[in-house]
Amino acid sequence: MKYLITGGAGFIGSNFIRFLLENDSNANVLNIDKLTYAGNLRNLSEVQSKHANRYMFFHGDICDSRCIEQIFQKHVPDYIINFAAETHVDRSIVTPNVFVETNVLGTTNLLNIANAYWYNTDIGNDYAHHKFIQISTDEVYGTLPEDKPELKFTESTPLDPRSPYSASKASADLISLGFAHTYGFPVIITRCSNNYGPLQFPEKLIPVMINNAVNGKSLPVYGDGMNIRDWLYVDDHCDAIIKVLEKGRIGQVYNIGGNNEIRNIDLVKMILKHLGKDESLIQFVKDRPGHDRRYAIDSSKIQSETGWKPKYEFEDRLKFTIDWYLNNSDWLESVKSGEYLKFYEQNYKNR
Ligand code: NAD
Ligand code: TYD
Repeated sequence: MKYLITGGAGFIGSNFIRFLLENDSNANVLNIDKLTYAGNLRNLSEVQSKHANRYMFFHGDICDSRCIEQIFQKHVPDYIINFAAETHVDRSIVTPNVFVETNVLGTTNLLNIANAYWYNTDIGNDYAHHKFIQISTDEVYGTLPEDKPELKFTESTPLDPRSPYSASKASADLISLGFAHTYGFPVIITRCSNNYGPLQFPEKLIPVMINNAVNGKSLPVYGDGMNIRDWLYVDDHCDAIIKVLEKGRIGQVYNIGGNNEIRNIDLVKMILKHLGKDESLIQFVKDRPGHDRRYAIDSSKIQSETGWKPKYEFEDRLKFTIDWYLNNSDWLESVKSGEYLKFYEQNYKNR
């Protein structure tokens, strides 16, 4: 099977490509990535050396119709998994336009071209075996109250995005569903909670905290630190995507979560404890505007329809992830480019 993976040089995309090639000897991967500040070909160096005959990289933008059409002309993929996105909420508050460009227009462009090629190439058999997985996020549902722990996001929770990032992802979800309803296009949407693991860009909570603690810098906790996220190890997310591809129903949404709600402050303390660093490094800073209070996922639909469930235990994988960053300090230094430093200065200087 030929997979077109978009955004495969980012955190989840690169973990997914490794996971897929290791677990499915029939998989061939075409990876298209724009290589923004968040995309890094070093994330794929092991894949490139181990699976060179089943892996190909294209440097390109999902918004660029010519580039996507050229890929389709040469290699009509069986499946598309769309990871490519602008993903950092804090950046979306400062520069929302690029979130709309990539997340909404880029996704529409991919859907449109796939629709034309897949329908026409399978004459008499509609879309045959083709599938498009739109990788979305639990953030499209908005926020949950912390005093009602029984409330979780289900697939029928109304969309209520509250940041430019989540609004752009919700828009892409609606366009995807529009394609499913109008053309019968074979798209399935997954909405996952916060991921953690190796290769996450050091602007997201866990790698920011590890990087700062290791370098003796203060750990900037937004607001009162009582915001809750539902953390899932990245390989559990990869496994869930494959299960949805194999067993999910066309036109459906599947929530994916770890059933693992943790307050930010408790997570930061766990990281410090594992590193043997003092809690005095914690610095409470000005809150993120519009900061969602709590995310929690009800993943009973994916569990009952596909048999997926998370395999990994949080504390064990958190330690593994921290150790990965400690053992890969050269990777960490290499991704902290001028763009990273500029954003860090802009995001934290007046907090
Ligand atoms: P990331 O920021 O680490 O990687 C995004 C990748 O997309 C980068 O390699 C970047 O170069 C590429 N990209 C950006 N714009 C592009 C464009 N126009 N054309 C081609 N490539 C482009 O993101 P991530 O954390 O790996 O997230 C991947 C997907 O999973 C996203 O769609 C995100 O919304 C979703 N998601 C992430 C999380 C999480 O916790 N990280 C949780 C749920 C869902
Ligand atoms: P983040 O990793 O940006 O993911 P998201 O906002 O998409 O859930 O942030 C996770 C949580 O950590 C969120 O509540 C914001 C908080 N946070 C901090 O307190 N300090 C930081 O420096 C960062 C990056 C995030």
